[in-house]
Amino acid sequence: MVHLSHSVEQTESIAAELAATLVAGDFVALEGPLGAGKTQFVRGLAVALGANPRAVSSPTFVLLNIYRGGRLTLFHLDAYRTAGAGDFESIGFLELLEQQGIVVVEWADRIEKILPGRRIRVVIEVVGENDRSLTIERVGEP
Ligand SMILES: Nc1ncnc2c1ncn2[C@@H]1O[C@H](COP(=O)(O)OP(=O)(O)O)[C@@H](O)[C@H]1O
Ligand SMILES: [Mg+2]
Repeated sequence: MVHLSHSVEQTESIAAELAATLVAGDFVALEGPLGAGKTQFVRGLAVALGANPRAVSSPTFVLLNIYRGGRLTLFHLDAYRTAGAGDFESIGFLELLEQQGIVVVEWADRIEKILPGRRIRVVIEVVGENDRSLTIERVGEP
């Protein structure tokens, strides 16, 4: 499914639509260049799940942010500065996937080899200063 967004608010509301369909244990892989809106999309997910939106920031330097207090706990990771999949494994990425929350990873394509095959793939493309194309697909469903 391809969505077009013309503002940060629209990107957040597309994320909110996805959030409504999420169930415990879902994994969301975000792809797209720097400034695409991946972190904004995660903010939309967190708000829609009922977490505190002020807590949402880019985890580029801390690797993992956790947003609690909503319908499902959201674990937010960013693979931008990782040396590789080993970094993710050492912070317990595989265990996070078993927490019955939602795990979302920015720059997921950088750690492709350790990602679960079953995922919700979100690819964000920059098509104008404030315009984004978001392709959302469920991959590897049984
Ligand atoms: N339609 C849009 N959707 C999301 N972000 C947008 C949009 N238009 C402009 N922007 C801007 O693009 C930037 C996206 O930043 P961010 O979410 O941190 O990107 P990423 O995490 O992909 O690097 C923000 O500065 C935001 O204001
Ligand atoms: Mg980001």
